[in-house]
Amino acid sequence: MKNGKILIAGLALGLIPPALAGTPDQASQRILESRKIVKQFMGRLKGELQRAMKAGGPVKAIEVCRNEAPAIAGEMSQQTGWRVGRTSLKVRNPNNAPDAWERRVLQDFEARKARGEDVRKLEHAEIVAVNGKKQFRYMKAIPTGRICLRCHGAKLDPAVDQTLKQFYPHDRARGFKVGDIRGAFTIIQPLD
Ligand code: HEC
Repeated sequence: MKNGKILIAGLALGLIPPALAGTPDQASQRILESRKIVKQFMGRLKGELQRAMKAGGPVKAIEVCRNEAPAIAGEMSQQTGWRVGRTSLKVRNPNNAPDAWERRVLQDFEARKARGEDVRKLEHAEIVAVNGKKQFRYMKAIPTGRICLRCHGAKLDPAVDQTLKQFYPHDRARGFKVGDIRGAFTIIQPLD
């Protein structure tokens, strides 16, 4: 029943192509759906970030990351019935800290990157059991781009540095270089 509801929500959103909704290959269908959610999330966030950077510079843009990122994640979670978020081995906001499973996947992404895999393509999907309840879980790595260095690089503008310190006294999301894995999108779909 729950699955049905999620499917319907997904269909209404245009996340699941109707042709796929009825096929037996549920796993690949969930992966396709996850990729779409991530793409939408990333697209919206990047758009807002770039607009804010242009309009008010990085200090103003901190507000986008601080308010819009969790808001978009919450909105997408509500629309899909899936839990959507961002995490990292070095978080800025402790609310984004990885759980044990996410930490293992992030470490595995680092190992795969070290073996030469393309960071832009790193993803992992798995069905896991938590307290006897099955969940579909999906993660996709987020590469560090040039624009990210304004707030996640080694050398920050003093005003950016000050503002970040004020909001995030335990900030660990600094010192990144272009091409590093900044973190990952993470999705949970309850299955029963
Ligand atoms: C204007 C400053 C700014 C820029 C530019 C920026 N970020 Fe962030 N980033 C933040 C802030 C602030 C947070 C904390 C958001 C929160 O409170 O949830 C954050 C959080 C994150 C997180 C969630 C994990 C964590 O550390 O808490 C990820 C992943 C992330 N940023 C990736 C990126 C990527 C990738 C880019 C470049 C495309 C980028 N950021 C550019 C300010 C920025």
